Amino acid sequence: MAPDKPTVRRREFIKTSSGAVAASMVAASPTTATTLLSHLMRQAPMRYALVGTGIRGITMWGRDVAREYADVVEIVGLCDINPGRLAYAKNYIGIDCPTFTDFSDMLRETRPDTLCVTTMDSTHDEFIVRGMEAGCDIVTEKPLTTDEDKCQRILDAQARTRKNVTVTFNYRYSPHRTRMTQLLMEERIGRLTSIDFHWYLDVDHGTSYFRRWHGKERYGGTLFVHKATHHFDLLNWWIDSEPEEVFAHGALEYYGHNNPFRHTNCRGCPYADQCRHFWDITQDEFLMRLYVDHEHHDGYLRDGCVWSNEIDIFDKMAAQIRYMNGVQVSYSCTTYSPYEGYRIAFNGTKGRMEAWIKEQQPWQAEEYDEIRVTDNFGDTELIRIAHAEGGHGGGDTRLMDRVFRDPSAPDPYGHAAGVRDGAMSILIGIAARTSVKTGEPVKIASLTTLKPRATRA
Ligand SMILES: NC(=O)c1ccc[n+]([C@@H]2O[C@H](COP(=O)([O-])OP(=O)(O)OC[C@H]3O[C@@H](n4cnc5c(N)ncnc54)[C@H](O)[C@@H]3O)[C@@H](O)[C@H]2O)c1
Repeated sequence: MAPDKPTVRRREFIKTSSGAVAASMVAASPTTATTLLSHLMRQAPMRYALVGTGIRGITMWGRDVAREYADVVEIVGLCDINPGRLAYAKNYIGIDCPTFTDFSDMLRETRPDTLCVTTMDSTHDEFIVRGMEAGCDIVTEKPLTTDEDKCQRILDAQARTRKNVTVTFNYRYSPHRTRMTQLLMEERIGRLTSIDFHWYLDVDHGTSYFRRWHGKERYGGTLFVHKATHHFDLLNWWIDSEPEEVFAHGALEYYGHNNPFRHTNCRGCPYADQCRHFWDITQDEFLMRLYVDHEHHDGYLRDGCVWSNEIDIFDKMAAQIRYMNGVQVSYSCTTYSPYEGYRIAFNGTKGRMEAWIKEQQPWQAEEYDEIRVTDNFGDTELIRIAHAEGGHGGGDTRLMDRVFRDPSAPDPYGHAAGVRDGAMSILIGIAARTSVKTGEPVKIASLTTLKPRATRA
């Protein structure tokens, strides 16, 4: 497999870099560097095609690309199985390019050099593999895919074609998480030994996963994969090692069958008055135009019932993860909290670094995130990191700058993520999902041909 990770190692960094976090965040990976350098050398824009014109595809990877990166990217084609949404997408993005309901037609007629994959999770592998085989480098939304067999197909195709795969882990790019990485690199708490990591999705955001395809394992791989791929990627990145073994518990105890009434979706629901999760999509003009207007093509209900008996994913999850370098992690995710955010504590031989990051709370007046570092036999230090503007704490824009604009800058914190990162993060979720079902711990090495390493490659 072609190398897909930056080469600056932790110790080298300590010797060579004292730069500020922000300054580092414009850097790029060799993965995207290869792609972008080749197109810069051609003095021609990247020929960029996109498959999956849902909200993620048409906003960040559609309109934002068209508006902010038109000097380096030409959008040559859009594809979706829903012809109505596809037509809306073209208009919303504001470009004049051909549209396709058949992916093969798009590849053949537009000959892109880069393919962006923003379809439903369980279909990513199909487009990643076929895109690479047609000569495209890939920019794919997380998760890389949803099970180990599809993951192996992607790994094999990447090894065969040597094309570049960028997995868009935008969470890495937020300033406070980068600061955590910097402090770990500096061994501010000594040698890292364990992490307590607990994520809370609130009754608005958390509930949204149970309204859509995400609530079915066959489409999103459970939230251990769909959502926690972000969290597991952060862990892999912070720990700078790869996972060895996972043991997990999970259950569906709130959504789905856990309610006396249900309907197909919120519009027209006879229980609207009684349901705490009733959501009136008709109040959202954008979602009406993007989804509801085109329901008749594919039956995709954006306001599906959170009490559907078809929901088969866990709504509470806990996992123990052991890493190849000996670090142990206690992870949990709850999907029906009164507030949104996460608590994390990094335990080291010399002290502890912790944070309680609250997101989107009405009472949250602070304009900064706080990290507390406490020495085992000394003082405690409070580090404040100002909030950044933009999606995911400004992470979305910084990620796109790296992908499209500035691929050759150094990447001292290793923000860029390739196919191995994408695989390692989902493999933790796949192992956790399997462990819940079997009651046994699962070795990451048993899932694909990837053999986890003590230090990330
Ligand atoms: N990184 C992030 O923070 C983030 C945030 C949101 C979504 N995402 C990811 O982005 C992707 C899209 O999410 P979304 O919320 O826009 O979903 P969505 O369901 O709104 O859109 C997906 C689109 O893919 C299309 N599609 C499905 N199967 C297809 C197929 N076989 N061929 C062609 N088109 C197909 C659907 O018709 C739909 O238009 C998902 O993988 C999701 O995990 C990432």
